[in-house]
Amino acid sequence: MPAQATAETSAADKRWKLVEATMRRNGYRPDALIETLHTVQGVFGYIDREALKFVAERLPVSPSQIFGVVTFYHYFQMKPQGRHTCSVCTGTACHIKGSKALLDDIEAHYDLKDGQTTPDDKVSLLTVRCIGACGLAPAAVFDGEVEGSVTPDLLHERLDNWLAEEDEGNGEEN
Ligand code: FES
Repeated sequence: MPAQATAETSAADKRWKLVEATMRRNGYRPDALIETLHTVQGVFGYIDREALKFVAERLPVSPSQIFGVVTFYHYFQMKPQGRHTCSVCTGTACHIKGSKALLDDIEAHYDLKDGQTTPDDKVSLLTVRCIGACGLAPAAVFDGEVEGSVTPDLLHERLDNWLAEEDEGNGEEN
């Protein structure tokens, strides 16, 4: 079943596809850079050298320019922050469907704002602009996995589970 195999392959690359979609939506113009980097960080949690290369190969911007932008803006991170990353989409469709309320809820319950990480380094909160799941707004990305129709309850479930993980023994349930 070749179609299935293709789908599986693309599933592995889903985050890159989201990054690609951002560039495409912006016509692969140089001014797509900031939004593209925003997507990279939103779906991966940080922007590493592989991501810089990926973007530089597609946008008419040199790797050194991209590196300059990433290091200039404090918001962008070049290494992992928390163990887990929750990125809430703040694109137009998600905004209309209540992404701001989701962010407010996270701030109220977890004292966590966009770009911040919990003191125990377990969870980082980021925002991302349109991840191509507008039909499922409001959407969020949990450790690279896109989730639609996100509710405060779902957010609490995910974040509480992450925060409840043991400090060192992640993955010990085997
Ligand atoms: S605006 Fe959120 S997925 Fe498009």
